[in-house]
Amino acid sequence: MNKNLFNISIALVAIVLFLAQCSTTSKFYTPTDVNVSSKASLEELNQGRALLMEKCGQCHGVPAPRKHDAEGWKPTMASMQVKAQISDTQRELIYKYLTSEKN
Ligand code: HEC
Repeated sequence: MNKNLFNISIALVAIVLFLAQCSTTSKFYTPTDVNVSSKASLEELNQGRALLMEKCGQCHGVPAPRKHDAEGWKPTMASMQVKAQISDTQRELIYKYLTSEKN
């Protein structure tokens, strides 16, 4: 293989990996210290993320945090709490995850 072809192959592999990562991870951020606030600890955010994946994808696709803002998620979470049959605590954890994304 000549050197140019080799470089092109490396570039293609990098692009494919980059695109694969975008499609699988960017919709649902992984909580880090950046997302922590007086309202939500890292542990709560991780629990909220896990609950979202577990409870909110049974009837439709798991909704992305950026679908609504903090105000917008309130009525949706109130009605989806009934549908998903989750406790107030679980609803709060999911709400914290949904509203703590930082860009
Ligand atoms: C038992 C089935 C069921 C489960 C479980 C469920 N949903 Fe839904 N969801 C629905 C149905 C049906 C609709 C469309 C009708 C409506 O809005 O009530 C909907 C609509 C939505 C919408 C679009 C409407 C809007 O207000 O933006 C969002 C977002 C949503 N659900 C989020 C969630 C979240 C978050 C959870 C987990 C807590 C969840 N859903 C769990 C049945 C479900």
